[in-house]
Amino acid sequence: MASSTLRLDGGRRKDLEHAARILRSGGLVAFPTETVYGLGARGLDPAAVARIFEAKGRPGDNPIILHVTNFDAARPLWNIENKDSDAILERCEKLAKRFWPGPLTIVNYKSSLVPDITTGNLDKAGVRAPDHPVARELIQLVGEPLAAPSANISGRVSPTTAEHVLQTLDGRIDAIVDGGECRLGIESTVVDVTKKTAVLLRPGALSEIDIRSLCGSLTIHGDAAASESRAASPGLRHKHYSPLIAKIRLAGASVIHQFWKSDAAILLRKSTFEQFNKTIGARNAITEVLPDDAPEFARLLYSALYRMENARPNIAILETPPETTDGTWRAIRDRLERAAS
Ligand code: TXA
Ligand code: MG
Repeated sequence: MASSTLRLDGGRRKDLEHAARILRSGGLVAFPTETVYGLGARGLDPAAVARIFEAKGRPGDNPIILHVTNFDAARPLWNIENKDSDAILERCEKLAKRFWPGPLTIVNYKSSLVPDITTGNLDKAGVRAPDHPVARELIQLVGEPLAAPSANISGRVSPTTAEHVLQTLDGRIDAIVDGGECRLGIESTVVDVTKKTAVLLRPGALSEIDIRSLCGSLTIHGDAAASESRAASPGLRHKHYSPLIAKIRLAGASVIHQFWKSDAAILLRKSTFEQFNKTIGARNAITEVLPDDAPEFARLLYSALYRMENARPNIAILETPPETTDGTWRAIRDRLERAAS
């Protein structure tokens, strides 16, 4: 295991070349994507992928997403010889042409190029083309797909800055490429395209409305409430997105009202904050106020959770998100429910 983690600058060509050399020799490098920071390794090299599982403390049955630059690079990773392959491949191509590079992970039957360890022994591989110049440049320089889960110790909150990455992985990985704050701040949407109807395995930065507009229909499997039955994506059964706080509760306005003058940390939307701030008065305890707009809320959420965690409150109350699937609210609800579970 790496004992000191090299800091590299995503804005410098020499640093990217250095990062690519480390990756090519089987090392672990965290790098920025438009969603969250990923922990990269050569995705088709079982020994390199094994180091990801070790550094993260990740359960072996949790599959890792392969990162490529475009559809042509994804195609050989999928098995296109099975019987429904033409229709499936056509769906993959349509989705990739419309949403790549971008926050969509496409799950399809894997080819023999992809080692079992990468997919957690599943017969399917998740692939996406990230929309971030540093990620794209690195994949290009390494010249092969990069396996990259979120760059955090397993179970913890995904990182949206280099500082977040170092908070849990410093000394456990070879290097980190700093590319500033992630533009979207919430993970990619994961869709399985092998069924008659496409299946949403994890809600994420790409809204299901966009996917439906292209696939016609979409089966929803992404709700935390449905997690028991989600054998399709074993990773979603594991504890996830969880800040290190003794007690975390998801609650509506009446509970927030009750805790307003307590020392509980509270994370809430701006409109709710303003209402109570006016009627009850200012708080002394930790208060994280996030925008009412879903994509903006998503972008800032993980930084707020890291700040909360670092403030070490005994209890944190997270405001229940709106019951809508608009924007990225379903994805936000999913993450907050897991954080509090
Ligand atoms: O935005 C993202 O997706 C980020 C960036 C770095 O690309 N990556 C990320 O990876 O969030 P990770 O490993 O933290 O989460 C990937 C999720 C897991 O819940 C995993 O179970 C699911 O995607 N997944 C990956 N490959 C899969 C597959 N073959 N079948 C089913 N689910 C899969
Ligand atoms: Mg993760």
